Amino acid sequence: MTDTDPDQIGRANQPLEWRDGDMPYSPAFGDHFYCQTDGRLECDHVFLAGNGLPQRWRGSNSFLIGELGFGTGLNFAETWRQWKLQRSHGQHLHFMSFELYPMRSDEIDRALSHWPEIDAERRALGDAWPETPQGTVSLALDAQTTLSVVCGRAFEGVAAARQGFDAWYLDGFAPSRNADMWSAELLHLVCEKTIPGGSFATYAAAGFVRRNLIAAGFAVERRGGFAGKREMLCGIKS
Ligand SMILES: C[S@@+](CC[C@H](N)C(=O)[O-])C[C@H]1O[C@@H](n2cnc3c(N)ncnc32)[C@H](O)[C@@H]1O
Repeated sequence: MTDTDPDQIGRANQPLEWRDGDMPYSPAFGDHFYCQTDGRLECDHVFLAGNGLPQRWRGSNSFLIGELGFGTGLNFAETWRQWKLQRSHGQHLHFMSFELYPMRSDEIDRALSHWPEIDAERRALGDAWPETPQGTVSLALDAQTTLSVVCGRAFEGVAAARQGFDAWYLDGFAPSRNADMWSAELLHLVCEKTIPGGSFATYAAAGFVRRNLIAAGFAVERRGGFAGKREMLCGIKS
């Protein structure tokens, strides 16, 4: 199915398939949740490095990351792992993700079990994750880290979110299959909620995504993608 209409389907209509045991795949969107080579390393290359992290955390009292598409929580878990290694006393990270089809705890656990490097984060997330995620799931996971997952369409979630995002992980399914997550309207809102000098990064490189990001107000840079992908995009709010 392409251009899946999020108003027409609920979580129950978006079953997961598992490939190679622990690799989630969405038949509704016809896409994997992350690259098949190594989603954790992809997160580091695309989302952390693309947003100048962890370097930008230095000297910042509080840092707000927004993410379109929480999925398995892999990006969050890897970001939290790196944050714990880098942070100084008194700093706080808030990771706010927007997700239409929140997964169950056992699904998150199955996917994240692939990486022993994020064992601690997987267990802590699993312990805190509600049985029926709805509304805004807000978890103070440690004294310096808060995770919020805003359940529902990203467009409405971002529209209602406060200003002041420092960085964005744009991680919808492939733009050709999940147009809702890459629309000019949504990316405009994303930019509007970003601080001057704030940033975004995405694995996507489609022309219409790039044009929407430029029209929204980002100075967009093309970089080499992860694992042989020719391009990815990142940029700064100009
Ligand atoms: C590529 S996956 C995200 C992977 C995730 N960041 C991770 O670390 O596992 C894309 C996610 O976007 C969600 N999604 C698709 N359309 C959406 C929409 N309109 N609003 C919010 N979330 C949406 C899907 O349910 C899916 O979880």
